[in-house]
Amino acid sequence: MMNYEAMSRAKAEELRKKDRVRILALETSCDETAAAVIENGRVILSNVVFSQIDLHELYGGVVPEIASRAHMEACDRVIDQALREAGMTLAETDALAVTKGPGLVGALLTGVNCMKGLAFAAGKPLVGVNHIEGHVSANYLSHPDLEPPFLCLVVSGGHSHLVEVTDYGEYRLLGQTADDAAGEAFDKAARVLGLPYPGGPRMDALAEEGNPEAFTLPKPKTAGKYDYSFSGLKTAFINTVHGLEQRKEPLPKADLAASFRRAVCGELMGKAEALLKDSGRKEAFAMAGGVSANRELRRMAGEMCRKLGVRLYMPEIPLCTDNGAMIGSAAYYRLMRGETAALNMNAEPALRLCEQGITYE
Ligand code: KG4
Ligand code: ZN
Repeated sequence: MMNYEAMSRAKAEELRKKDRVRILALETSCDETAAAVIENGRVILSNVVFSQIDLHELYGGVVPEIASRAHMEACDRVIDQALREAGMTLAETDALAVTKGPGLVGALLTGVNCMKGLAFAAGKPLVGVNHIEGHVSANYLSHPDLEPPFLCLVVSGGHSHLVEVTDYGEYRLLGQTADDAAGEAFDKAARVLGLPYPGGPRMDALAEEGNPEAFTLPKPKTAGKYDYSFSGLKTAFINTVHGLEQRKEPLPKADLAASFRRAVCGELMGKAEALLKDSGRKEAFAMAGGVSANRELRRMAGEMCRKLGVRLYMPEIPLCTDNGAMIGSAAYYRLMRGETAALNMNAEPALRLCEQGITYE
């Protein structure tokens, strides 16, 4: 009998010649249990997201053990629903995909083990996907014309990267945060204003009502020209709020949120603009990750790209935050390169997208 790995490689080779390749993908790296069926890396046949926000809200953030348990309970249901909505059975899919990292180890392991079991039982190739690559790939779903090369700002709860996508599955890291990620900074600032978890979207909504020039926050200093740092900004924000509280002044929450949002987005876009100018890469600029749903960031990116004559690509709002569709898209391009996972695939909580690339300085 052919072993699983040999069978998987042979099937993956066959799939490279097939017109329609449909992948069932599962995402469980943090607090969303999500499954999707994606055709040829570009077309969403179904996309089911089960959010655990209600479970974690009470604690003001994601509790890893609760997340793992909830993934375990939801996996089967979410996968069944994704197959049902795509009008398919497991046997009719061509391959399976799962996020292998980065993320919470217990949460990742739940998904990895679930999909390893299904892949073995159904005799399907399995692809292990980098979550950050998934975020970048959400753009392939929203924009059928987008192809590498392009520059991309990846901004999520755990990452703030400027990368060059040189080809499908190939990246050069050009800038990154020295401390907090942009989403993390939004979440922490939101907590200081007493907004419930997850704070990012709530800060964004509140900021729409406020004056972004009401408070001046310091401009972050970084070692690299395209690197980020948000911890100083966060501390300055906390000090501003505490100062108001100590003076028993009412908190102008909307103005505070608007000023903080302006500072973070200005920083994100400032470095992106410097990189676009220095690199001479004028084809396309893309954004990805939860924070790319931010209204001010989307407006600023629009203005910057108009000014520079660069084509702007952003995922539709529901595809900015964690979902299974983006994992299915990234998996397709990996599969076409013949990359399949063995049954000893492990979760990799600290998985990186790529090593540091060249700089243009
Ligand atoms: O990409 P994502 O869903 O998960 C990670 O991979 O981390 O990103 C979640 C992060 C959270 O920090 C959340 O507060 C932030 O993205 N976020 C936002 C917005 N929507 C989500 N931050 C600012 N404005 C938003 N509209
Ligand atoms: Zn994410």
